[in-house]
Amino acid sequence: MLCRVKPGRAVKGSDRVKKYLGFIKPYILYFILGPLLMLTEVAGEIVLPRLMGEMVDNGIGTGGAQGLGAGYIAGHALMMFGFIIIMITGGIGGHYFSIKAAVNFSSDLRKAVFDKVQTFSFKNIDDFSTGSLVTRLTNDITQIMNITRMALIMAVRAPGMLIGGVIMACSINPRLAMILLVMIPLLGIAIFGLLRTSLPRFTLMQEKLDGLNARTQENITNVRVIKSFVRDKLEIKRFNEASCELRDATFSAMKIVVCTMPVMTLAMNIATLVTLWRGGNIVIAGDMGVGSLSAIIQYITQILGSLMMVSMMIISSSRAVASLKRISEVLDTEVDLTDENAKYKDRHVTEGRIEFRNVYFKYYENRDDYVLSDISFTAEPGQVIGIVGVTGSGKSSLVQLIPRLYDVLKGEVLVDGINVKDYGIKNLREGVSMVLQKNVLFSGTIEENLRWGDENASMEEIRSAAEAAQADGFVSSFINGYEMELGQGGVNVSGGQKQRLCIARALLKKPRILILDDSTSAVDTATEARIRSAFRTALKDTTKIIIAQRISSVIDADKILVMNDGRIVGEGTHSELIKSNKEYQEIYYSQADKEKEVS
Ligand SMILES: Nc1ncnc2c1ncn2[C@@H]1O[C@H](COP(=O)(O)OP(=O)(O)OP(=O)(O)O)[C@@H](O)[C@H]1O
Ligand SMILES: [Mg+2]
Repeated sequence: MLCRVKPGRAVKGSDRVKKYLGFIKPYILYFILGPLLMLTEVAGEIVLPRLMGEMVDNGIGTGGAQGLGAGYIAGHALMMFGFIIIMITGGIGGHYFSIKAAVNFSSDLRKAVFDKVQTFSFKNIDDFSTGSLVTRLTNDITQIMNITRMALIMAVRAPGMLIGGVIMACSINPRLAMILLVMIPLLGIAIFGLLRTSLPRFTLMQEKLDGLNARTQENITNVRVIKSFVRDKLEIKRFNEASCELRDATFSAMKIVVCTMPVMTLAMNIATLVTLWRGGNIVIAGDMGVGSLSAIIQYITQILGSLMMVSMMIISSSRAVASLKRISEVLDTEVDLTDENAKYKDRHVTEGRIEFRNVYFKYYENRDDYVLSDISFTAEPGQVIGIVGVTGSGKSSLVQLIPRLYDVLKGEVLVDGINVKDYGIKNLREGVSMVLQKNVLFSGTIEENLRWGDENASMEEIRSAAEAAQADGFVSSFINGYEMELGQGGVNVSGGQKQRLCIARALLKKPRILILDDSTSAVDTATEARIRSAFRTALKDTTKIIIAQRISSVIDADKILVMNDGRIVGEGTHSELIKSNKEYQEIYYSQADKEKEVS
């Protein structure tokens, strides 16, 4: 499954650079120290072959010439030892600060991506798949961290080795150094070609990894459903397909990596051979010492070796560029639901009056059909509003507009007479508590889960919310009571218990508006009646909207809305609707028949 990302607006390259520079700024010292200290390592590596060459040519003596002797050799050896110590110290420091810079930078980047995802509207989350967001937060950030570390090490090392090596080789013997001037541009062209071919392949590989992550996540999360429908084989087949696609894409990208090493090694060996052949003749002619020849060969190995490292880095960077693009997609996504232009940002919901005025809504703007059409109704503070209707008629879509989980397309949703778009989102959602149809609990104790409603609630408040939701009884019967650990998603409580805990969590918010979206479907009718009667006393002033499949759940509501195909087709109390509304009668009598059959 590939993500369907539609970036809100084109982001200018300069804006993007500015954004990433912002992440670098706090660690600028590490970003400077890392490459700077690497400079000492480079300096050492550049000087050592030269000293070695001088030691051989002048100290030992070549071509029949008398050497300067042990004193000269010892002096040079001491000098070389000094350089090695400086080199090692600089190298360790360079690596240390480069790692520190890369880890801190990528950790801040990960936090920024996570924070951004938290601001996403439901629609934004719909546009990315969950699997894709997880890959971006983990794998992609790790890629960026690795390449940053490598880049900091190579930033000075590669050009330093190249320039320093060429200068040194030229100063020893310019004629021999010409070989380098031929080899370097040739390798440069090869590296450029490599980059062009590898980038699209690594992008594809990353996309396939997304697909596999999405598959795996969906499968593991819903393993119970899969097993109960005996879908294991089909799921294994679908997983294998995604896995094979990733394998092929990885293979196609890795082919480039595999080809690079032998080509580079070949180039290095040819250059060495040519140097030996031409250099050998120069040495025989007596124009150069053996030590100088071996120094030049060392420079060639070093230069081509660092070019090889650059090519490896470019390959990795093409992966990192793909990762960076995907991170940017998240960071640049325009959150389509903000309170930037809200007129009453600091206003709180105080009464709980709800009004829908000719509301039209759909999930995808380019689709013709509306999910909700011409919805108008009011709910007075403290009233109980029931919503019934066949599945897919738009009940959940309607209530999601009240806490502004989605925005209306036409018309207005007002809370306490103010358009929901004019509230600060936090204030609005604090006033409107919603138990979603597909609600979940999180790993942690029951108490921790309930505290989502109110962090500072006293134990007494937690108990009384649980009592109203008819949850206190069963929680107290657990050995650890409110301290009982819930598994991920609340797997170790029953469906009905989970629903009651979700209601208790919503009640702790002490909301002005409480929305229950089919939240008692797994609770037996007697317990449900007790929840309703507890609401009447404990939440007298709270406006309650109850979506239900069973008419019995809303029978005593002040107003019932009957929905069909995205429209309100009936509005009134149970006794009014049962007399006059055809859709309501149909639902009521079909359920009454069923009850009769059961009894
Ligand atoms: N996140 C979504 N993205 C796209 N379409 C959606 C989304 N959620 C619901 N829909 C579509 O909107 C329509 C109304 O769905 P909604 O969930 O509001 O129905 P409902 O009355 O709550 O149904 P149910 O009783 O089964 O819960 C359906 O056709 C559904 O396919
Ligand atoms: Mg629904």
